[in-house]
Amino acid sequence: MSEATLPLAILKESEFYRQKIPIGFTRTCSCEDNHLNCMTAKEWIKCQLGVWQFSYEGRDIRDKKVHPATFPISLSRRIIELFTHKGELVVDPFVGSGTTLVAARDLDRNAVGFDLQESYIKLCAERLATEHLFNQSQQIAVCDDALHIPEYLEPQSVSLIWTSPPYANLLNRKRKNKSRRDRKNNQYMKIEQYSQDPRDLGTMELEGFTIALGDIFERLLPLLKPKAHCVINVPDMWWQNERITIHVSVIEELRARGYELRNTIIWDRTNIVNKIGIFGWPSNYITMGTTFEYLLDFWRPSAD
Ligand SMILES: C[S@@+](CC[C@H](N)C(=O)[O-])C[C@H]1O[C@@H](n2cnc3c(N)ncnc32)[C@H](O)[C@@H]1O
Repeated sequence: MSEATLPLAILKESEFYRQKIPIGFTRTCSCEDNHLNCMTAKEWIKCQLGVWQFSYEGRDIRDKKVHPATFPISLSRRIIELFTHKGELVVDPFVGSGTTLVAARDLDRNAVGFDLQESYIKLCAERLATEHLFNQSQQIAVCDDALHIPEYLEPQSVSLIWTSPPYANLLNRKRKNKSRRDRKNNQYMKIEQYSQDPRDLGTMELEGFTIALGDIFERLLPLLKPKAHCVINVPDMWWQNERITIHVSVIEELRARGYELRNTIIWDRTNIVNKIGIFGWPSNYITMGTTFEYLLDFWRPSAD
């Protein structure tokens, strides 16, 4: 089958299920070989600061009933533009509503995203079907456990892994923070979990989550080109008055699995957080957990 006839989604009954996908992964631009991306020096400067802010746009999915934890298309675009050239291949192992695929389509990059939930994969396909861009790249959503990604992609074909994994089992509890209560938010006292599937990383305690994430990323490492980047978006969280440092667990685990940490970028979310409430006053100082998240930039070290 030629690249032109690839489907938008691969489900269990598809002929591509757990087969290599004939998707493009080589540059279609005319940039110099040693360039990291297609950016001009002026565009590059915008990315130089270590703290970034983004806004949502009309196409972003912000309805938590549709998907509880999406990142903005503009953030996804920045990461893809920074670490790939046109025509190269981006992989999102936890693709959710398909934000990475939409951004890749905007930027003419090939992309494959994976998610356990069939409903999210169908949502990805719907979003892609409404985008009519006349570029040559392809974006595909696959319904499968991220552990199986090496069955779909060739070694050293991937130029960027970009994702936001589920956050240990911290979504797997009733939401009752004050700002939600004040806004009469209908998520108040609801569980915002993706699923109760035991393969879902969001159902695991931090320790099990970290090992399961490490197992997935260890299998992904051979798929990356040498010096290709892998960017992981995670927050830290408060849980029962303790700070859960998810970013520390992820950094230590990925280093142990052969990745090298290159940059730590702060995604400053102060421009998009909901109303700021008073937490802990007057005796217990706690920062509002949602005001920033980490963008942990790793790469596959080169062989030499
Ligand atoms: C934080 S969300 C990703 C949201 C995405 N960045 C977006 O903008 O829509 C994490 C996703 O990982 C999926 N997931 C959890 N465990 C998985 C696994 N083992 N394999 C593949 N997907 C998994 C969940 O279903 C959830 O949709």
